[in-house]
Amino acid sequence: MKLSIIGTGYVGLVTGACLAEVGHEVVCVDNDAAKIKLLTSGGIPIYEPGLEELVKKNAAAGRLSFTTSTAEGVQKSDVIFIAVPTPPQPDGSVDSSFIEKVARDIAAALTDYKIIVDKSTVPVKTGEKVAETIKRYCPATADFEVVSNPEFRREGFAVGDLLKPDRIVIGTRSPRPIEAMKKVYAPFHAPMVVTDINSAELIKHASNSFLALKISYINAIATICEITGANVQEVAAGMGLDERIGRRFLNAGIGFGGSCFPKDLSAFIKIAEEIGYDFRLLKEVQHINAGQMDRFVKKITDTLWVLKDKKIGVLGLAFKQNTDDIRMSPAIELCQRLQKEGALLRVHDPKAMNKARAILKDVTYVEDMNTVTEGCDALVVATEWDEFKQLDLERARKSLSHPIMFDGRNLFDHAEMERLGWVYKSVGR
Ligand code: UDX
Repeated sequence: MKLSIIGTGYVGLVTGACLAEVGHEVVCVDNDAAKIKLLTSGGIPIYEPGLEELVKKNAAAGRLSFTTSTAEGVQKSDVIFIAVPTPPQPDGSVDSSFIEKVARDIAAALTDYKIIVDKSTVPVKTGEKVAETIKRYCPATADFEVVSNPEFRREGFAVGDLLKPDRIVIGTRSPRPIEAMKKVYAPFHAPMVVTDINSAELIKHASNSFLALKISYINAIATICEITGANVQEVAAGMGLDERIGRRFLNAGIGFGGSCFPKDLSAFIKIAEEIGYDFRLLKEVQHINAGQMDRFVKKITDTLWVLKDKKIGVLGLAFKQNTDDIRMSPAIELCQRLQKEGALLRVHDPKAMNKARAILKDVTYVEDMNTVTEGCDALVVATEWDEFKQLDLERARKSLSHPIMFDGRNLFDHAEMERLGWVYKSVGR
């Protein structure tokens, strides 16, 4: 099928590449001319495992192309996906201005029947507003229908998540777009949920909030574990074997971050408020998440006492492993909190150092994780990169003035660390 994706960020570009990979003809549109130039010349603006190969392969096969013209994208395709950002406003509500602008741009380019699909995470009832806007701005002869099709991929695993989705949600009751969307997704062989547009939009906010709730729940249990001498990883293992609960998203740590959970929680709380429901459960999820960072910083100051002029090595800057994304990263927040206390930081991240340089100043960026501890008083683990488990612990122990590690992601085995001579402080163990 002929498809276009408007917006080539973490959602749009991966979606475009994966839809091309299964055989569709995809035009990716972005108003950032520099980004389109980079993509056209074979470059990739973000780090996402497997994405570069997929983009190059499908561009070479002629199934994936790039343009700055929304009109070109609209005219060349039957189904048009909207994948532009929906950033938070200062009060937590969603800024829908990018979606609204794209809706008007699509409207101006409409000539015959098109299906317009919203992939961005949006407040419930946005699809209805998109349809109203397009109708207002399109020529009288144009015809279209709007569908909600939320995206559930995780950064760092986006290619795999998109090629093997656990479900596909199609929000429309109209037969023609249902049939078209089934055709778009037929190669993925995933269960499909066909529902109305408002329910589809709600599925996304309800899912992300539930996952955030799950993380805050285990972080609260981690606090109980610390007070009682229990071990949160063993509690999570015991809970997770119950199929109704599941083990995933039960990793305690310094809290969740990223461009989705914090934003989507605030948005969902605001959406509920606007319709007259006080979503106190989700406010508590936010509260626990913020407290997790406070407790971790306290753990560091309780041990090292005064941080002024103490040298601390930090492993991790990205908001999670396998990505260079530092938006709302707990690791960056932790670095800033330590800097505020006067600590001097040596930091390392396998992929996120370039992006971090723009916002995290006055730190020493270290290319080799095994030298991050040199001349330091303690080591902090802030992101759950698998490769940190390969740290040369003996070398790190010797290069620190005292072998103290604060592990905010529970990457190492507690008993083993103590056996190796570390003062080892983690979360909930
Ligand atoms: C999330 C959703 O998982 C995805 O379905 C949606 O489409 C977008 O939002 P993402 O933000 O890419 O994906 O990352 P995710 O893997 O969910 O992690 C979010 C944050 O939670 C990270 O900071 C991570 O470190 C933290 N986390 C995750 C935990 O602290 N514990 C866990 O058990 C899992």
